[in-house]
Amino acid sequence: MSSIISIDKHGAKYTISRHIYGHFAEHLGRCIYEGIWVGEDSSIPNTRGIRNDIVIALRNLNIPNLRWPGGCFADEYHWKDGIGPREQRPTIVNTNWGKVTENNHFGTHEFMDLCEQLDTEPYICGNVGSGTVQEMQEWVEYLTFNGESPMAKLRRENGREKPWELKYFGIGNENWGCGGKMRVEHYADKYRNYQTYVKDLSGNEIYKIACGPQEADYHWMEVMMREGMDRTEPVQDAIIENIWDYHRPEMNGISLHYYTRNRTNYGSATKFNEELWFDYMKRTMKIEGIIKNHAEIMDKYDPEKTVGLIIDEWGTWFGVEPGTNPGFLYQQNTLRDALIAGINLNIFNNHCDRIHMANIAQVINVLQAMILTEGEKMILTPSYHVFEMYKVHQGATLLPIYVSSPFYCYGKERLPRLNVSASQDETGKIHISLCNIDPNCTEETKIELEGLNLNSFIEGRILTATAMNEHNTFDEPEKIKPTAFGNYELGEGFLKISLPSKSVVVLEIN
Ligand code: AHR
Repeated sequence: MSSIISIDKHGAKYTISRHIYGHFAEHLGRCIYEGIWVGEDSSIPNTRGIRNDIVIALRNLNIPNLRWPGGCFADEYHWKDGIGPREQRPTIVNTNWGKVTENNHFGTHEFMDLCEQLDTEPYICGNVGSGTVQEMQEWVEYLTFNGESPMAKLRRENGREKPWELKYFGIGNENWGCGGKMRVEHYADKYRNYQTYVKDLSGNEIYKIACGPQEADYHWMEVMMREGMDRTEPVQDAIIENIWDYHRPEMNGISLHYYTRNRTNYGSATKFNEELWFDYMKRTMKIEGIIKNHAEIMDKYDPEKTVGLIIDEWGTWFGVEPGTNPGFLYQQNTLRDALIAGINLNIFNNHCDRIHMANIAQVINVLQAMILTEGEKMILTPSYHVFEMYKVHQGATLLPIYVSSPFYCYGKERLPRLNVSASQDETGKIHISLCNIDPNCTEETKIELEGLNLNSFIEGRILTATAMNEHNTFDEPEKIKPTAFGNYELGEGFLKISLPSKSVVVLEIN
C-alpha cells in the first residue's frame, strides 16, 4: 500500500460553490459564431439561432454560470452595437482575435436567451478600458430595470418586456493588459468610480467583480484589497434604510487569471512526450501556491472571507491546430487536459473557503474547450468528461482530507502522484475525485473513512486511456470517455483502490 487518504467527515465547514464549475464564452474565433450561434436560418438544428446540440450537452454539465462577452473583447465591446434588428447592427473589427469582422448578431438578447436555454446564470463583463461610466450604467439599466426609463423603453422596443435577472457583473477584464494597460493604482480608482454606477435596480442585486491580478502579481491584489472597497464605518445620520445600502461591500469578488502554458513555447495540444506531460502537470500545480498567497493577502483585509476569489480564466493554452487561424486559439484536447482539469478542480474545491467562482477558458472551440465543432458535427472533449464526472461536487460540503502520496518523479524533479478532493452532498452521499498524474504507475491507495463497512455501496467512474495524448476526433468521437470503475476492496472503515496510471476517478459512497 503506497498511499493513504484520510477523509474527515466531522471537520466539514465550507460549501463548494457550484459556481466553481463555471464557463466562459468570448467573441473569439469560433466560440460564439459557429460554436453557439448559427442563426435562425441555419440547417443546423437551433432554437432562435442557438445550436440545440450544444445546449443539450452543456445542460448535462449543470453549467452554473457563463461569462461573456470577454476576455479582451469585453473592453472593446459597446453593447448598444449588439441590440435591435440584426441586419441594422454595425460591424466592428475584433482587434484582439484575428482582426476579423464582427457583425454583432450575437448581442445582449441572444446571450440572455442562451443563458435561459442553458438554465444558467449570466456573468457579464463590462467595458472599462474603452467604455464610459454612462455606457456601463445604461447596460445594467437596460438589463435589469422594470420601471419607466430610457433604457427600459429601449429594451421593450427590442422585444423584451420584463427585465432579466443579472447577478454577476465584472468591472473590466485584465485591465493590466488588453483592458487598458493600467497600473493597479489607476485601476483601483477607476474601479471605485465605475462600480458606483453599477446599481441594484428593481430588486436585482449585483455581485461586483473587480479585475484582479494575473498569476502571482501580489502587489495588484494588495492594492485592490486595500483600495477597492470602502471599509470605513458609515455615518449613522446618513443611513436611510432602503435608500443608501451602506452595508454592502463595494467589491464582492476579485478575479485571478492563471493559464497552464509556456509562453516561450506554446507547443502542441496533441504532440508531446513525457517531459512535456510532467512540465504541464507542474505548471498546473503551481496555481495552488498562488491561490494560497493571494488568499493570505485577502485574509488580512477581509478576515470574514466575504470577498470571493474569482478564477474567471484558467486552463491550458497550447499552440493552435495546424492550418487554423492563429488568432482563433483553436486547440485539441487530450487526456493530459483531462488530468489538468481534474487537478485544478480538486484544488479549487479544497480552497472553496475563498474561491467563490471559477470559469474555464473557454466553453467551445477555444483553448481548453468542453466541446469542439465542425459544421454540424460536435465532439465532447476529455475535459468535458471531467466536468461531467465532477458535477457531483457542485454545492456539496467540502470534506477535509489528509493525503500521504508517493511522488511521480521525472528527471531530477518530482510531484505528488495523487491529487484529491472530497465532498458530501445534501443526500449524504460522499464523492471523492482522484487524479493519478503518473503516466507509468498504478497507485494502490487506502481511503480511510469512518463508517465504511462491507455493506457500503460504492460506485465509480474512470477516465483514462493507453496513450497520454488520447483524444476524440470528428471521425472517432468516443475514443475517450468515462467507463465504470470497480477496482476496489471494502473493509471496516476503509476502502482499497487500485488507481491506474494517468487516470481521473470519481467514487460515490452511499
Ligand atoms: O481567453 C483568452 C484571453 O486570455 C482572454 O480574452 C483574455 O482575458 C486572456 O488574456
